[in-house]
Amino acid sequence: MKLGLLKAFYVDELKKLYRYSEAESIFYIILNWLEKKDKTHVFLGLETILEKSYQDILVELKSGKPVQYITNETDFFSMPMYVDENVLIPRPETEELVAWIIEEQKTKSRILDIGTGSGCIALALKKLLPDCEISGSDISVEAIEIAKKNALKHNLTIDFFELNILTDSIKKYDVIVSNPPYIANNEKKNMHTNVLDHEPHLALFVDDSDPLLFYKKIALQIQNFDTVAYFETSEFYTELLDKWMINEGFTTEWKNDLNGKTRFLKIMK
Ligand SMILES: C[S@@+](CC[C@H](N)C(=O)[O-])C[C@H]1O[C@@H](n2cnc3c(N)ncnc32)[C@H](O)[C@@H]1O
Repeated sequence: MKLGLLKAFYVDELKKLYRYSEAESIFYIILNWLEKKDKTHVFLGLETILEKSYQDILVELKSGKPVQYITNETDFFSMPMYVDENVLIPRPETEELVAWIIEEQKTKSRILDIGTGSGCIALALKKLLPDCEISGSDISVEAIEIAKKNALKHNLTIDFFELNILTDSIKKYDVIVSNPPYIANNEKKNMHTNVLDHEPHLALFVDDSDPLLFYKKIALQIQNFDTVAYFETSEFYTELLDKWMINEGFTTEWKNDLNGKTRFLKIMK
């Protein structure tokens, strides 16, 4: 089958789940993954001999499975990361959080990433701030295994360990970074099936009764240290979170993401 025809077929089959441009980029990701080919091969009118593989993958995609869990790869800060259903697929906004830390922390800081998942934040920090001592922690054993695998892949030395931030204490670090679970369960109804049915709920959701739980627990742990903490937050709770932090004696600084949403918070005493 000609690649152009195959692309049109993919885009049409995926139109219920994805916008045209998204479906098109998914096709190109699969094309590159299966055959190491790109757009130019489509324009040149080449044929595929892997029609069956494309069809099998399409079935998975139509079930809502994110393409990154099919190829087991995504990019974060221009670094390829292994991902599977045990970890959240790193988001582009989180790269902006990392960029903020890189801008401000040039010295030999000791940095802990809480809720490290694939290890993406910790890895990008270690790559860009090689003099810093970087650690990453997560409640999920599977996530820690994946983070270690990614560190090995990039030949970066990071101390990854299991930790439940809701119950365990942490030692003193110069910098804490965290993109914790922050979606309240009552927001589920507005979410895309590929997130809701495929990404780990442990990474996404927090109880409706206290969507700020993770930020509070982390802040309370660093209250007596001169630690600075950087967070990714939900755009829906910024005011509430700001008030709580100020009330606890922290100074706060907020940053917008590239879409203009207030998303990133820095706190210190
Ligand atoms: C939103 S994901 C962030 C993953 C990764 N840091 C990123 O930015 O792509 C939140 C992470 O927090 C972890 N997590 C959930 N509950 C936790 C807890 N009680 N203690 C520590 N980590 C937890 C999840 O396993 C998940 O990896």
